[in-house]
Amino acid sequence: MAFGAAALSSAREAGAKVRDQGANMNFKVVAATASLGGLLFGYDTGVVSGALPFIRDLFQLSEAMQGFVVSIALLGAAAGAAAAGQLADAYGRRKVIIVVAGFFVVGALLCAIAGNVPVLLAGRLILGVAIGVASMLTPLYLAEMAPADKRGSVVSLNQMCITVGILLSYIVAYLLSEMDGGWRWMLAIGCLPGVVLGLGMIALPESPRWLAGQGRHEEAAAALKTLRGGADVSAELAALRTDLTRSDGALVPWSALLEPRVRIPLIVGVGLAVFQQVTGINTVIYYAPIIFEKAGMASTSAAILATAGVGVVNVAMTYVALKLLDTAGRRKLLLIGLAGMAAMLAVLTLGFAIGTEGPLAWIATLSVAAYVGFFAIGLGPVFWLLISEIFPLAVRGRAMGVATVANWGSNLIVSQVFLMLIAGVGSAATFGLFAVMTVAALAFTFALVPETKGRTLEEIEASFAETGAAR
Ligand code: BGC
Repeated sequence: MAFGAAALSSAREAGAKVRDQGANMNFKVVAATASLGGLLFGYDTGVVSGALPFIRDLFQLSEAMQGFVVSIALLGAAAGAAAAGQLADAYGRRKVIIVVAGFFVVGALLCAIAGNVPVLLAGRLILGVAIGVASMLTPLYLAEMAPADKRGSVVSLNQMCITVGILLSYIVAYLLSEMDGGWRWMLAIGCLPGVVLGLGMIALPESPRWLAGQGRHEEAAAALKTLRGGADVSAELAALRTDLTRSDGALVPWSALLEPRVRIPLIVGVGLAVFQQVTGINTVIYYAPIIFEKAGMASTSAAILATAGVGVVNVAMTYVALKLLDTAGRRKLLLIGLAGMAAMLAVLTLGFAIGTEGPLAWIATLSVAAYVGFFAIGLGPVFWLLISEIFPLAVRGRAMGVATVANWGSNLIVSQVFLMLIAGVGSAATFGLFAVMTVAALAFTFALVPETKGRTLEEIEASFAETGAAR
């Protein structure tokens, strides 16, 4: 009898282990495929800095026109993010990602074959729209597919892929810069992950949460079962249903974003979106070689090398964040990251204010690298993670859309204003301004940002509904 029970329980354990492995396997495929959206985001935003000098020479572009080639993609991204929420709520996450994969391919090809400026701009605009949609839907889809205790690392795979994409774009640009017409290949390479993303998503399941929201409960159960390797999903499904009774599951009007239970999450999401950009990250990602040259770095190639170093730090520290988000928690990492960013910006400001050429180049390189490292363990991944977690299901797509538009809009403004600021008020004042913004972000986080580690999306929603804040 005892033996029989022991055998039964060990058979059960073995069964559970196989299911766990199955779930892991399924999940890894889902996560790896979907996060190609992040890779494309990073690659396509990063590659333009390497291709731009060649494009400038070929098409004889003025300064303003060069700026436009860069920023038209950011404009497209804001527009894409604005449309993505509604599309994802109406047609499902998966279908929209498949269409967007097509945009990535068409946009990259148009840019690569462009024989004149309008075609190039059209390609950049299409790419931008794809980047904007992907930037929102990838974390949303991943968050809705992930088990609660792994959600932090799964969703942040997206950020990891963004940073890998940026680094790859630096490397590809460096390797192809000597080749005749190499810039066309730099841009064309973005097609490949686009094709894999599109084909891969055709095979992946739709988000069970979205299916349940559409009243398609059987399909939701089947999708969840596939994701969890056949394990018992009844508790997870029940929680989903309760969540849906709180909303009625139907598409809600835009005015729902003003309801009290959405207000605080929306302030948190939009606030972090703006702070992620106005604290200056993309002035480094897009213009690092210029900053290093300003700090007196002797040669352009040294500046490019230092930039690649920054790319490596970005990837490495994002990896560290991935390991810590579900244990240390989002809030703690965000606070530490912001404090570090503020300190490094203060060092950079002082360096520019009093610096003499030789030491300044070193101070600038080290403080910029450390600043990016602190961004990568906090504000980088945590912003995208939190906006996939804190909104009620009924408005999740749209609310994330609003936060994402705020992010791209702020990115556009900062990227446009940065070079003017450097020229107008100087490097010290510019980085001083970013330091002040970072301190404001720290205060904002301290006061408003909840800890969401280990809680299901449904629990997070319930706690916002009860108290107006998730703490
Ligand atoms: C930001 C991007 C930035 C990237 C750098 C992302 O979280 O949204 O604007 O370029 O991090 O790693």
